[in-house]
Amino acid sequence: MKIIRLKNEEQVGLEASKIVINEINKKNNIVLGLATGSTPIPLYNNLIKFYNEGKVNFASVKTFNLDEYKGLKPTHIQSYRYFMNEKLFKHINIDLNNTHVPNGIDVENPSKYDLLINENGGIDLQILGLGVNGHIGFNEPNTDFNSLTSEVNLTESTIKANSRLFASIDEVPKKAISMGLKSIMNAKKIVLLATGKNKAKAIQQLIEGKLSVDWPCTILQEHSNVIVIIDEQAASELG
Ligand code: F6R
Repeated sequence: MKIIRLKNEEQVGLEASKIVINEINKKNNIVLGLATGSTPIPLYNNLIKFYNEGKVNFASVKTFNLDEYKGLKPTHIQSYRYFMNEKLFKHINIDLNNTHVPNGIDVENPSKYDLLINENGGIDLQILGLGVNGHIGFNEPNTDFNSLTSEVNLTESTIKANSRLFASIDEVPKKAISMGLKSIMNAKKIVLLATGKNKAKAIQQLIEGKLSVDWPCTILQEHSNVIVIIDEQAASELG
């Protein structure tokens, strides 16, 4: 695991964007795995900036997002499909047909998502955020390390953390569709981003803790190509 420690979230986003652009420029039909949430926003802003400067072309890029709230339509402003369209896709030359977000409404057979990823050659580069409780995607503590995409229950701590984006905590969906830990581990390369003091404990477990289902992120210790990019605050509990 390679650890890159930077000063603040802006630097984390910039560093991550350079890695993503470098990979796209090496393989223009790359398959990217993408995350939502606050952490990757500086990354997406930099991707848009570099696109506007002509430094990257998304015409052949394919994307698969990690997760979606159950019950939210793609047009719902809190849905992760809406988030991706607003924060990234509508600002770059990606073909929307090449972008995939798990379906929050038709959740009959979520593991079809893994088949679709495989049919597209698998994820070349997976971007991850990190939950306060160590979740990656919406794989909460005690998730089976062999899990594939499935319907998952969100923990109280995740519902509380995500309520900042909703009018009230009661509006936060209690379930989501998430790529599984195995789905994530199948990616050829993984870049995890974490910023802020509230991620310090999970970062400490990821980097210094033992492999444990109590901290789902620790499964990344078993992957051979992981870069963790963190700011000073997220690094503050490292020994
Ligand atoms: C989002 C996702 C989650 C977030 C995590 C951190 O697609 O899969 O694991 O990455 O909850 O969220 P933020 O960045 O908002 O702190």
